[in-house]
Amino acid sequence: MLQNFTIEFMSETNVKNIKDKLRDLLSVVDYEFVPSLSSRDGTTQTALSSSEKTLELDSYFKGMMEQINIVMLSNDNLLGFVSFRHNHMLDSLEGYSPCTYLSTIAVNPRFRGGKVATKLYSFMMNEVAAKYPSNYLLTRTWSTNEIHIKLLKNLGFQLVKTVENQRGGGIDTVYYAFNQR
Ligand SMILES: CC(C)(COP(=O)(O)OP(=O)(O)OC[C@H]1O[C@@H](n2cnc3c(N)ncnc32)[C@H](O)[C@@H]1OP(=O)(O)O)[C@@H](O)C(=O)NCCC(=O)NCCS
Repeated sequence: MLQNFTIEFMSETNVKNIKDKLRDLLSVVDYEFVPSLSSRDGTTQTALSSSEKTLELDSYFKGMMEQINIVMLSNDNLLGFVSFRHNHMLDSLEGYSPCTYLSTIAVNPRFRGGKVATKLYSFMMNEVAAKYPSNYLLTRTWSTNEIHIKLLKNLGFQLVKTVENQRGGGIDTVYYAFNQR
């Protein structure tokens, strides 16, 4: 059970200490994502050399740094993070736009199953919702990501859209929304 932890926004004051840890965690979880974060799409993945993959991951990281990031820390360890965009428009989900769009969440494998992700979502629904008001908190994942989907359902998210086979044969993209009104 985690006791001493903080959840905070990345800002000019803490970015120096956290940035490298965040980039390291991204490398650790890269291939858990479907498709991997370092592949431009599922079909190019096998053709990329390791230096090309590093460049791809750098580019993903750069994109993350342009978003709003929150991090959970304990004793100098980065437990997990969330990247999101505020006032985000989703073309195919007009009824849910503008929304707070959670683009990436990942927990350090050493701290999984200890409710780190649950606490990060709770921070999104409380502190983030207060600072960045929005009717909907929206995210998407892949249909075989059972742990993430279980977590979203537990928190009260509803499945609002499925794009069949978008992540490769038999793996759909699924969009989940949480009504914050
Ligand atoms: C998905 C992820 C963020 C969950 O993080 P976590 O901190 O371990 O999750 P929590 O501890 O808050 O647990 C959430 C729920 O999942 C369940 N769970 C966690 N790990 C599990 C496991 N290995 N097997 C089965 N269930 C598991 C928990 O029991 C909990 O459900 P409960 O409240 O009913 O007990 C983490 O596994 C991860 O970083 N995965 C790789 C990246 C990813 O898939 N990101 C999401 C796509 S954007």
